[in-house]
Amino acid sequence: MKIVPNGIYVDATFGGGGHSLKILEELKGGRLIAFDQDDDSRKQAEQIQSRSFTFCQANFMYLKKYLKLNGVKKVHGILADLGISSHQIDSAERGFSTRFDGPLDMRMDRSTPETAADILNSYSEEDLHKLFGMYGELKNARTAARLVVQHRVNVPFARTEDLKKALNAVAPKGKENKYFAQVFQALRIEVNHEMRALENFLHQCGEVMEHGGRLVIMSYHSLEDRMVKNYINKGKVYGEVEKDFYGNEIKPFEAVNRKPIEANEEEVTNNKRARSAKLRIAEKL
Ligand SMILES: C[S@@+](CC[C@H](N)C(=O)[O-])C[C@H]1O[C@@H](n2cnc3c(N)ncnc32)[C@H](O)[C@@H]1O
Repeated sequence: MKIVPNGIYVDATFGGGGHSLKILEELKGGRLIAFDQDDDSRKQAEQIQSRSFTFCQANFMYLKKYLKLNGVKKVHGILADLGISSHQIDSAERGFSTRFDGPLDMRMDRSTPETAADILNSYSEEDLHKLFGMYGELKNARTAARLVVQHRVNVPFARTEDLKKALNAVAPKGKENKYFAQVFQALRIEVNHEMRALENFLHQCGEVMEHGGRLVIMSYHSLEDRMVKNYINKGKVYGEVEKDFYGNEIKPFEAVNRKPIEANEEEVTNNKRARSAKLRIAEKL
């Protein structure tokens, strides 16, 4: 992030605060504004007693609004470590994990109304098909959607085990865990409107970043990484290019690394969750 001690930085995904604490160590006279929409993160953030630190319990898609509320117009760096935290995935009652039985919840912000169970019990077969195909990249998305609709006629979905049982017959043999992980990913993205949040966030990053400031994003699946890559390289998340009167591409950032940085074997051995991480860095033009 090329942190300068008196700069203003954003950690868009506070989680358990690991990255925020590292940034705070580098600051002297600067500020760190951290975001997380999860109430458990707020509790964690309350432990940090630093005058340089401000926590916003909010979706990062309201980046500009919360910076303004805190008297900040421009920042010198923004970090986002997307997806869910270890704390969230390891808590059975949050419903994110395929490993434990828990309620089909999956909300990062538990003040929002719609859970994963609501989606499974109310979406049309067609919408479930799209969801599983687009966000879960399931090869048999249509079949999975049909099974969900057939299952809920008798008993509405409530627990993660209900979903696994309903889809067990169509999960590829020997690859059940990967299949369920894709199904859960699809639901999680929908429950939390993750793609919309990321799109809005990225565009605002361009608006609030100081010239030379760095955007550092870690993503964990190809849909997110594609959006980040398109935004950095083309200035637009779907990859369409906008040009000015002279035919120059309009884009706020220049990539620092052309290929995403990935964890090496040693890091993956020490931290299995790093295996799908892709890190992209860009500098404001
Ligand atoms: C991978 S974790 C971050 C872990 C963190 N870097 C650390 O050091 O502990 C992602 C966090 O981002 C939060 N999050 C994800 N999407 C968000 C969004 N749109 N707005 C606010 N917080 C979000 C999640 O609630 C979760 O706590």
